[in-house]
Amino acid sequence: MKKKIRIALIGSGGIAHSHLTGIDEYENAEVVIACDVNEEAAKKFAEKHGIENYTTDIDAVMADKAIDAVTIATPPAFHAPIALKALKAGKHVHTDKPFAMNAQEAEEVVNLAKEKGLIFMVGMNQRYTSEGQTAKQIVEAGTLGEVYHAKALWKRRNFIPGGVGGWFHNKKIAGGGAMLDIGVHLLDLCMYVIDNFKPVSVSGAVYTKFGPYGGLKPASTSEMVEPEFSVDDYSFALIKMENGSTIQLEATWAEFMEQKEYSNIELKGTDAGMNLRPMKLFKCGSEEGSYEIIEPKPFEGEGNIKKGRTYNWLEAIEGKAEVLCKPEQSLAIQKIIDAIYESSKTGREVIIDWS
Ligand SMILES: NC(=O)c1ccc[n+]([C@@H]2O[C@H](COP(=O)([O-])OP(=O)(O)OC[C@H]3O[C@@H](n4cnc5c(N)ncnc54)[C@H](O)[C@@H]3O)[C@@H](O)[C@H]2O)c1
Repeated sequence: MKKKIRIALIGSGGIAHSHLTGIDEYENAEVVIACDVNEEAAKKFAEKHGIENYTTDIDAVMADKAIDAVTIATPPAFHAPIALKALKAGKHVHTDKPFAMNAQEAEEVVNLAKEKGLIFMVGMNQRYTSEGQTAKQIVEAGTLGEVYHAKALWKRRNFIPGGVGGWFHNKKIAGGGAMLDIGVHLLDLCMYVIDNFKPVSVSGAVYTKFGPYGGLKPASTSEMVEPEFSVDDYSFALIKMENGSTIQLEATWAEFMEQKEYSNIELKGTDAGMNLRPMKLFKCGSEEGSYEIIEPKPFEGEGNIKKGRTYNWLEAIEGKAEVLCKPEQSLAIQKIIDAIYESSKTGREVIIDWS
């Protein structure tokens, strides 16, 4: 009988359950151990999901030759160090976003995975959505003509995740705020849809205006509740690509705005435009002066893509599919993220180094 892929799930918090979804659907794989620095969290998670074992000892997980692969659902600062440990131990790796704390760390992971011939993937779940796939097909079919500009926005009026003093608010653990929590999703999805991962320069600005006050309030009149809040609650970037096209990116946890939440990618093409949320195409009609707004038929697609990120990763481990989120693409995203924070700090445009 064929041996099942035996997986360790590292991190037993909020998002860990979503890593199980694709694994549970995959016939030839099972999560055999839940690992968390917090023993109670690992125990509870293992019991709830019928996982046979739990531990706080990550080194024992890495040393266990019977474990073939790890999926990482810890806070961001631990993603790359755990990925490196796992790859060194000969295990395939899937990690949640954001990839790493900087491009140097990310590059080390990408190179080691390549050297070892192991499957490494940053599981960007937005790529597996129906609108992501629909948009990708429309762009690939050439319906938009040349896509010369994109706007990728995920904005929340007042939703700062994590409690006071939690890791989400700590740059050393989270790496960043709104940009790394939600901005990175839309940036990744946008670059995937337009299939362009060659940024050449970035101008960015990040702000921390409401986080220390516990959320959206007129900051000038409020008590500070969390002075050590060290991440952005509003961030913005203009990214220039090698082919001359541009991406405008915005990510917000707190902002005086009309909607409670707004998430969209707008694509500007020479033949048509498109919005992803809600999915709409804009183009000139066949009659002189007419204009059409079309709701494209949603992608129903191959089942394996609908089954999501961990399913795709497992298929790649078994050589049945390629990973949708290629490591080099995730590295390009990380270079942009680094450049946004550097540009914000220096007040200058940052040139992306591809040497
Ligand atoms: N893909 C998505 O849509 C999505 C959504 C939410 C969160 N996330 C990402 O998932 C990751 C985890 O977020 P969360 O909301 O589940 O956080 P969480 O705080 O709920 O859970 C994190 C867990 O990791 C454990 N942990 C911390 N350090 C560890 C270590 N070194 N080794 C093992 N376990 C460790 C913690 O004890 C905790 O149980 C973050 O990177 C976050 O950005 C992704």
